[in-house]
Amino acid sequence: MTHKNQTLGEFIIENQQQFPYATGELSRLINSIRLAAKMVNHEVNKAGLVDITGTVGATNIQGEAQQKLDVFANETFINTLTNREIVCGIASEENEDFITIRGQQHDHQNNYVVLIDPLDGSSNIDVNVSVGTIFSIYRRVTPIGTAVTLEDFLQPGHLQVAAGYVIYGTSTMLVYTTGHGVNGFTLNPALGTYYLSHPNMLFPENGNIYSINEGNYVHFPAGIKAYIKYCQEEKEDRPYTSRYIGSLVSDIHRNMIKGGIYIYPSTSTAPEGKLRLLYECNPMAFIAEQAGGMASDGNMRVLDIRPTALHQRTPFICGSKNMVEKAISFVQNPALSKKQTFV
Ligand code: AHG
Ligand code: MN
Ligand code: MN
Repeated sequence: MTHKNQTLGEFIIENQQQFPYATGELSRLINSIRLAAKMVNHEVNKAGLVDITGTVGATNIQGEAQQKLDVFANETFINTLTNREIVCGIASEENEDFITIRGQQHDHQNNYVVLIDPLDGSSNIDVNVSVGTIFSIYRRVTPIGTAVTLEDFLQPGHLQVAAGYVIYGTSTMLVYTTGHGVNGFTLNPALGTYYLSHPNMLFPENGNIYSINEGNYVHFPAGIKAYIKYCQEEKEDRPYTSRYIGSLVSDIHRNMIKGGIYIYPSTSTAPEGKLRLLYECNPMAFIAEQAGGMASDGNMRVLDIRPTALHQRTPFICGSKNMVEKAISFVQNPALSKKQTFV
């Protein structure tokens, strides 16, 4: 069978034995994410036709305007995961507190917690630009049979058992890792089936794309400013190309295929940056590392950060290994820029 004919369902079954706890639970969990993603995809595709674009007139816990599709995606993922006996807790960007799932027997027998950004890049919906979903999965650390606690969610990213994203783009893709490389599946909308289209995805070691919201330049730390100038310098293979969609999922997906670096740094107005550690940066960092790339907050590996709060933010530098290492060298030694001559 060629890779292109293999469905996600077949792939999950074939690779089930790779999981450290091969009970089939994690497979069923990924199956329910794939199902919820199809429902969200269906709704996203209709945006513009039905009254699903725009804001609901409320703000979420982050103080951001909630889009109707934010709410729809959040409810779809939560309902789909709750109705199956797999997940004992869910934390979402759209909910202040985590949700406890007791299970049908109310005996807290489920093993996994899911952290999710149900709709990433949601301000792009109204203008028909790609959006995504990001998810991160851990085994609970508290004993089976008890209710989940915050401790189950505040695990460092290197303990993730699986992570992935869905990109609702020109085609819809589900990309995920269980710690054995990264595989991408494309949805055939006519059949409702995902096919393995991107086996063993790898970040090129080098690239020529840099992705950062340069409009915030004046607020960036000296090291990031210096790195941007380095990207724009006419030397060797530079200047690089600037590409920034404003959907983390889409920006990282493109850079993973073409080679590039994504940066959301700390700024003078947002010292911890904007992106959320637990359901944006950690899952993307796990995928990046599994694809041979790298993810850092400028000082340390993102996956080694010890979380202290559900919605905490972190600066984020992620992408092709050599580019991330270069960016880190500027962050840690902004004076490097003084040794260079920028035109
Ligand atoms: P969300 O829609 O889940 O709130 O995430 C938006 C994030 C991320 O997707 C994107 O990379 C970033 O916000 C863009 O932020 P700026 O508009 O500040 O560049
Ligand atoms: Mn997001
Ligand atoms: Mn979101």
